This record gives sequence, C-alpha cells and structure tokens, in this order.
Amino acid sequence: MTDHVIIERPEAHPGVEVIRLNRPEKKNAITRAMYAAMTAALTASNTDPAVRVTVFLGSEGCFSAGNDMSDFLAFAMGGSMGSEVIDFLKALATYAKPLVSGVDGLAIGIGTTIHLHCDETIASDRSQFRTPFVDLALVPEAASSLLVPRIMGHQRAFALLAAGDVFLAPEAREAGLVRAVVAPPAVEAETLAAADRLAKKPPEALAIARKLLRGDTSEVLARIDEEAAFFAERLKSAEARAAFEAFMRRG
Ligand code: COA
Repeated sequence: MTDHVIIERPEAHPGVEVIRLNRPEKKNAITRAMYAAMTAALTASNTDPAVRVTVFLGSEGCFSAGNDMSDFLAFAMGGSMGSEVIDFLKALATYAKPLVSGVDGLAIGIGTTIHLHCDETIASDRSQFRTPFVDLALVPEAASSLLVPRIMGHQRAFALLAAGDVFLAPEAREAGLVRAVVAPPAVEAETLAAADRLAKKPPEALAIARKLLRGDTSEVLARIDEEAAFFAERLKSAEARAAFEAFMRRG
C-alpha cells in the first residue's frame, strides 16, 4: 500500500468517502501503487451501502500532474506497464455511485480526464486543466476521446486533447468540464457540501438516474481498451521516450 493516497470516511460527512491524492512534493503525480490504492477503495465502496458518494481531492495548489513520468520512462525502456492504470480506469468508469471532485491548481493528464467520470467537479479560480498527450508523443486515455467531444464539441475537444491547450478554470466551466468555480480556500468545503447533498438523496433512485445519464458503459470500456492499445504502442516509440527523458533531465 502507499501513503500517497489517503482514503477517509469523515464523520462530519456521513455516507461520503474521500480519496485524496497526497504526494504534493511530486505534484501528486500518480504512481502504479497510487492507482492500485484508488482501485481498491473504489471496488470496496462500490458495494458498501455505508458509502453513498465518493469524492476525489488533491492538495492545496495541485490536484495532480498526471501519471508519474518515471513510470512512463520505465515502460518506454522495456519495463512492464502492469495493469494498475487500466484497472483504475475501469473501476472508475463502472463505479455505480455519484463521484464528486475538487480541484485547486494543476490538473494535468489523468488529473484532467478523471473528472470526465465525475458527476460534479468544483474548481478553484486558479485551476488549470491540460492534457499534453500529443506533446509527449502519446494519445488520449480514460475514454476522453469519446467523452470530451460529447461534453464540449469537436473543436474544443481537439484543443484540449490533441493540441494540448490549457483550459483555465472559467473556460473549463464554460466548456462543461467543471460545474462551479470558487476561490481556492473554498474548494474542499464546496466539494464536500456537494457530496453531502447527494449523500442525502434516495440512493437507489440516484443510482438509476446517474446510470441513465451516463449511458452505455460498454462503449466507454471499449474506448478505454482501444486508447490503451495505442497508448502502449506510443509509450514504446522513440519520440515518446525522448519526451520522457527530456522531462527527467530538465533543470
Ligand atoms: N511525474 C513524476 N514527477 C513529477 C511529475 C510527473 N508527472 N510532475 C511533477 N513531478 C515532480 C518533478 O519532477 C519535481 O520533482 P523534484 O522536486 O524531485 O525534481 C516535483 O514534482 C515538482 O515539479 P516541478 O516541475 O519542479 O514543478 P513546477 O511547478 O515547475 O512544474 C508541472 C509543475 C506539473 C508543470 C511540471 O512538473 C510538469 O510539466 N510535469 C509533467 C506533467 C505531465 O506532462 N504529466 C503527464 C501527463 S500525460
């Protein structure tokens, strides 16, 4: 297990589980162990009636800088990718209860795409969302290539996922990626308040409403696999390896 993900069920928020990324010294970059810890939490709470809503939070000033670059580089150098990332994405995509997230600051790569699977995201006004997949010689993941065009249309999806443009908080809200923008100190309280509101609703009706709104999960799972095949191939490319090495070398 890892200390870099903290799972809590705060007494003050009955029915709410919090999954907190807690690796601020590395901008909450997500390692294989962190994915595994999040998957274990989601799998356990998915069938636990004591949990009605799950919340993702990061640290002050940083939600996540995305997948750990040294894991990418290790795979590019011939190491095993493991199944942790895919297991997490599938646990996320098939989670049956409402997911709420709170972002303050950086949200890069999976730090952005995780919110596509959430039902309500609160972001601070200094937040920035960015998926530099193509700049790293990679491709979109987490079914983002399916979900982002649905949310914001092709041109903005292309800007986010292919061009790697930064979406500042107001643009992210306007594009439908986040529900509300608040001042940084208010992010956690507003996020937990949103979770509390959902936790008080009749859980069965809420689960059915959510399932209807989310649509066909099999399509999402198929896209996760399709993207992952390209992603694995790209990770082994010379241009991706050069991009990871450049990041590791930077001064
Ligand atoms: N993987 C591993 N380590 C990461 C990381 C990542 N994705 N992002 C940041 N870190 C580490 C840095 O290596 C640094 O570690 P060090 O202090 O041991 O050198 C620490 O976090 C702080 O990062 P730093 O780059 O010094 O902070 P910054 O404020 O100048 O820049 C970022 C922050 C997030 C803009 C920059 O780190 C970055 O571009 N990270 C990569 C983001 C990315 O491309 N993710 C993959 C998306 S698919």
